[in-house]
Amino acid sequence: MKDSASDLRVGLTFDDVLLVPKFSDVKSRRDADTRTYFSRGIRLSVPIVSANMDTVTESTMAIALARLGGIGVIHRFLTIEEQVSEVLKVKRSEGVVIEDPITLGPEATVGQALGIIKDREVGGIVIVDGSKKVLGLVTRRDMTLEDSMSRKVKEVMTPRSKLVVAGKGVSMDKAKEMLHANKIEKLPLLDAKGRLAGLVTSKDIMKRKEFPNATKDSKGRLRVAAAVGVKGDHLERSRRLLDAGADALVVDIAHGHSAYAIETLRGIKRELGEVEVVAGNVATAKGAQDLIRAGADAVKVGVGSGSICVTRVVTGSGVPQLTAILDSAAGAADSGVPIIGDGGVRNPGDVTKAIAAGASTVMIGSLFAGTEESPGPTILREGVRYKLTRGMASLAATVDRRVRETKTAGPKEDEVIEEVIEESVPEGVEGLIPYKGKVEEVVRQLVGGLRSGMSYSGAHDLAELRKKSEFMRITSAGHKESLPHDIQKVV
Ligand code: XMP
Repeated sequence: MKDSASDLRVGLTFDDVLLVPKFSDVKSRRDADTRTYFSRGIRLSVPIVSANMDTVTESTMAIALARLGGIGVIHRFLTIEEQVSEVLKVKRSEGVVIEDPITLGPEATVGQALGIIKDREVGGIVIVDGSKKVLGLVTRRDMTLEDSMSRKVKEVMTPRSKLVVAGKGVSMDKAKEMLHANKIEKLPLLDAKGRLAGLVTSKDIMKRKEFPNATKDSKGRLRVAAAVGVKGDHLERSRRLLDAGADALVVDIAHGHSAYAIETLRGIKRELGEVEVVAGNVATAKGAQDLIRAGADAVKVGVGSGSICVTRVVTGSGVPQLTAILDSAAGAADSGVPIIGDGGVRNPGDVTKAIAAGASTVMIGSLFAGTEESPGPTILREGVRYKLTRGMASLAATVDRRVRETKTAGPKEDEVIEEVIEESVPEGVEGLIPYKGKVEEVVRQLVGGLRSGMSYSGAHDLAELRKKSEFMRITSAGHKESLPHDIQKVV
């Protein structure tokens, strides 16, 4: 028997509620502690995660976000090689010591070296022989004025005799002093036999000072997560991503409370051992509990909540996001497994509400798609700059994915497109989002709003926010009152 209409539960989302202000002894917004967990084993300074969408997170976004104390999830709509390369770019972007620096042999050409410098976004390459003995170093500067791309790197490199190097166990203070005293940017570290054992760069040392709250692993490298699917190559992909240094895998499936998701999660845990796995998406207490029982180290919550989602319209299924977070967090409460509130964040106040409802972090899609660091160019329309955002289940994303998978070109590509259009029932849309500049500014607004919100709830940290906060349901008149009203808005 179905419930009668009067028994139906009401689902609420961010705009349906407000947090009731409480006595506060938080003296300054700066005193509000925003530290949290992305997953059981990954700590963050700020509760902000960028979405695994192809218009949101590749290495540039992941690097920017990890520096700010959050974490990015590299999307999976890439070949394994491409996704691995994005992870490597993050892991190599900075570190106390780069343990496995990029190397080339002496016979490699200037063209090859410049190609690697560009692709991997590094400043220089150590030149080694077959036994990893250091022969020299080439930097972009050594080669930019070089006319012949076929010249050997051994002819343009700084040779070992002129290279400043240090022993493998050098302290960071000493390394810093050597970089400074010799006015150099790279310090290769050698073992007792003269073989390459690491690299310290001045850029990394500067970055440590500039971003004290960065999300880093035990080796001082920025942390990054990567998404995997539930079919096909997902185990091979997972293995390769972990080998590249990915700190967590995110099992990405629209309906995460499913046999597919649970089997995939169990399979990864069984085959790949000690690995942080985030699973989702779910929208209920039972969904969260089943994933946690299957081994999830964090649960991603949100069905149809995203700005580019039409899942609820197309399928009739979903749960308004605040209720989804409240229910899932209640389901996960005894386990200590963090909840990621995924989708629907439009305003800084939504972050505060999501955390107060029980989330440990929020995942952001379209708000970040408009920033400098998201993949893809800016588009100019009638003098206004935009970037593209699209649902991963939108027609455009499905077409691109299928074309890429079938690797066809010319007329065959048209056939693939036609086939996708005929078969597809899109659950996402595509749209333009005004260009927002650097992601740092968007994060500053989100975290600034959260800190103020914590102060209004009298909370010194996020656990206290969850404990002390009191939601009040509001009417549409109340919501209208919350927005600027009865004025001619200037900005
Ligand atoms: P926001 O609101 O931050 O949401 O843009 C980002 C989240 O939306 C989800 N997502 C989708 N959901 N169809 C959906 O129903 C789609 O095509 C789609 N693409 C992304 C996803 O959870 C993301 O993190």
